[in-house]
Amino acid sequence: MRADPLSFLSLELGAMKEAGLYRRLRILDDEQKASTSFDHRSVVNLSSNNYLGLTTHPTLRTRAIEAIERFGVGSGSVRTIAGTMAIHMELERRLAEFKKTEAVVVFQSGFTANAGTVSSILTKDDVVVSDELNHASIIDGCRLSRAEIKVFPHKDVDAARRIVAALPAAQRKLLITDGVFSMDGDLGPLPALCEVAEEFGCIMMVDDAHASGVFGGNGRGTIDHFNVHGRVDVQVGTLSKAIGALGGYVAGTKSLIEFLYHRARPFLFSTSHPPAVAAACLAAIDVLLEEPHIIDRLWENTRFFKAGLQRLGFNTGMSESPITPVIVGDGALAMRLSDRLFDAGVFAQGIAFPTVATDKARVRTIVTATHTREQLQFALDAFERTGHELGILQ
Ligand SMILES: Cc1ncc(COP(=O)(O)O)c(C=O)c1O
Repeated sequence: MRADPLSFLSLELGAMKEAGLYRRLRILDDEQKASTSFDHRSVVNLSSNNYLGLTTHPTLRTRAIEAIERFGVGSGSVRTIAGTMAIHMELERRLAEFKKTEAVVVFQSGFTANAGTVSSILTKDDVVVSDELNHASIIDGCRLSRAEIKVFPHKDVDAARRIVAALPAAQRKLLITDGVFSMDGDLGPLPALCEVAEEFGCIMMVDDAHASGVFGGNGRGTIDHFNVHGRVDVQVGTLSKAIGALGGYVAGTKSLIEFLYHRARPFLFSTSHPPAVAAACLAAIDVLLEEPHIIDRLWENTRFFKAGLQRLGFNTGMSESPITPVIVGDGALAMRLSDRLFDAGVFAQGIAFPTVATDKARVRTIVTATHTREQLQFALDAFERTGHELGILQ
């Protein structure tokens, strides 16, 4: 019999199990909402990116169903052949209006928006200057572009400036940061980075995946929050988190978007969204504009829960958003904390290396607008008990 050429994978999985870092997928057997059921257990859900509860919002549901009835379940092609439906164009037009930019292109996900954009606008002769905690999709886009990658310490604008200043003036440079960092919940220093980009002629790019629907007026993102409109050349957003459906987009000038229509590989070589997804995203824009009290509620819950964790004495890092990490250091301890919380009826995902540094393992919490105070207090009580049991709290 032929020896399994993939047997080394089992060895690696065994090593993960020994280190306590092996992860079983939790199975959601109900809707994605604030209190739900995973693995047949009712839990307060602090692990989704469903910031505004839009995954189950009645307007989005109705409009998605209507789109299925009218247009069917699939687009049947990539955008550049037969898969551009009127509803895709309508979504791009509405998003551009919402983001106050000339144009928008929608991708299948935030991941493909980042990776497809960076890899198509840069070449091997260019340089990317990137925050060390930028999302994996940015890193992959940088690698695919074959541009030189220079990484600056997290949020260190002076270091970014020194890197950029040392590069030849004529060389094309992309300065790139997350708007909200997904594992720490802190914000990229946009105004200061925009100044560096302007001084040295860099292309300025922001990945606003976790800011879309959360920061800025009606959830327009960190560009609106910091009022740096017109100073960020490439804005990436996602439709998969607060918007409640699926997808990513790039907002910018008409020429940027037309270029991506011609060169971004996920746009050219992967089928476009089913019409129901586009319809749900369009409905979500209406909700952001017409029901901004949902965003206010998200922030009230965020303040309540973050203050509660801090009062208990947990290390919550530098978070400024609804993402609040509970940093415990050791990877196995983070996984144990997550498991114990789950047994106590709270789902907060443990996160360890390689997603975060080896000594910065954590349980990540994300509150949503739809959590009730009782649910959040239940979660805080579980954190308190479990934190003491595991010796994280004294
Ligand atoms: C900062 C950041 N950018 C991009 C993405 C990718 O977005 P999507 O889930 O829409 O692919 C994520 C999602 O994990 C993210 O956290």
